[in-house]
Amino acid sequence: MNFQLTEEQLAVQAAAREFAQTELLPGVIERDEHQRFPAEQVKKMGELGFLGMMVDPKYGGGGMDTVAYVLAMEEISKVDASASVVMSVNNSLVCWGLEHYGTEEQKQKYLTRLATGEIIGAFCLSEPEAGSDATSQRTTAEDKGDYYLLNGTKNWITNGSTASVYIVIAQTNPEKGHKGINALIVERDMEGFVVGTKENKLGIRGSDTHSLMFTDVKVPKENKIGEDGFGFKFAMSTLAGGRIGIASQALGIASGAYELALKYSKERKAFGVEISKHQAIQFKLADMATNIEAARLLCLKAAHDKDTHQDYGKSGAMAKVFASQVAMDTAVEAVQVHGGYGFVKEYHVERLMRDAKITQIYEGTSEIQKIVISRELLK
Ligand code: CAA
Repeated sequence: MNFQLTEEQLAVQAAAREFAQTELLPGVIERDEHQRFPAEQVKKMGELGFLGMMVDPKYGGGGMDTVAYVLAMEEISKVDASASVVMSVNNSLVCWGLEHYGTEEQKQKYLTRLATGEIIGAFCLSEPEAGSDATSQRTTAEDKGDYYLLNGTKNWITNGSTASVYIVIAQTNPEKGHKGINALIVERDMEGFVVGTKENKLGIRGSDTHSLMFTDVKVPKENKIGEDGFGFKFAMSTLAGGRIGIASQALGIASGAYELALKYSKERKAFGVEISKHQAIQFKLADMATNIEAARLLCLKAAHDKDTHQDYGKSGAMAKVFASQVAMDTAVEAVQVHGGYGFVKEYHVERLMRDAKITQIYEGTSEIQKIVISRELLK
């Protein structure tokens, strides 16, 4: 078993770290406070190749492996999880889905611009009444011959108002259950498509989360991804990889919180010595570092499974459920290590604590991950 990273993977990790520290750290507190989307920073992420990392270079991507993607996601999420969710959705849900299941024409038209970050994409599955139960889509895509007539509402959509391209999951044949669902590419300026209200969130407040409304939107047939009725499998297959991205985001939140706690513990004095000299703090640091290492190994294992064309449904779900719990636990402990300073914004850990929570909810709650894992175990 080889745990050595390649030179290319190390270079990607270093570039992501540098970008996060120089471009994302300044202003991250204000963006969170004012719910401001990191538009300039996302543009730079595109220029640096972070928005289409795994896409084939012939479509404008970086041609990197999933391990490199995990490393970059960790570094960026240490500093700004609102920026890393844009990266995760664009890479894992939008670009990956289009590259693997799209037609050549769809790739040329959309993927080439998404992979370079010229435009960004959104993945629209969740609905007011279909979150975990993803087969219960109420949004309909009625077959009208050479187009689909799209009607319905999607909720909690990341990149909701900033995306140019939306992959929308909708029901065409309700009597066929999940086999009647389609995935359609919707463009921002299609008539009848309206971006709804922005969510005022607990965490990842700089990310752009909206409801979306579709009223008699005419989506041309050539914008359907895959065969008729492939939409649900498209969504499940895409989310399986997406979960590796969110697991890495959780890993980054945890390691960011840990690094801040470690640094603070060596600076802050109490009872005449640095607090890192107190065993109460040492035990916390040891637990954090051990859990983070375990989460990192699970993330890298899932990425390795994907890169070596093995099944990664279970390993991705394991990485996500574990890393997101580690993110919560570590961030809470990092606040505790900081004491009163941890409770105020300037020290960053309270934001990481709020950001950690979403990693247990989106792209499948922790309970959904356990369903995915146990189904594999009981097969
Ligand atoms: N790859 C390919 N196909 C898959 C698959 C995968 N990973 N997982 C399931 N399928 C297929 C199954 O093989 C099955 O096909 P057949 O009928 O031909 O055998 C079909 O899909 C239905 O599968 P299930 O019977 O397992 O479906 P289910 O209704 O029992 O649901 C579930 C399973 C795991 C609970 C699923 O509904 C699920 O994952 N729910 C959570 C949805 C989710 O993650 N939502 C998050 C929203 S997206 C988001 O958060 C993005 C963002 O903006 C950040």
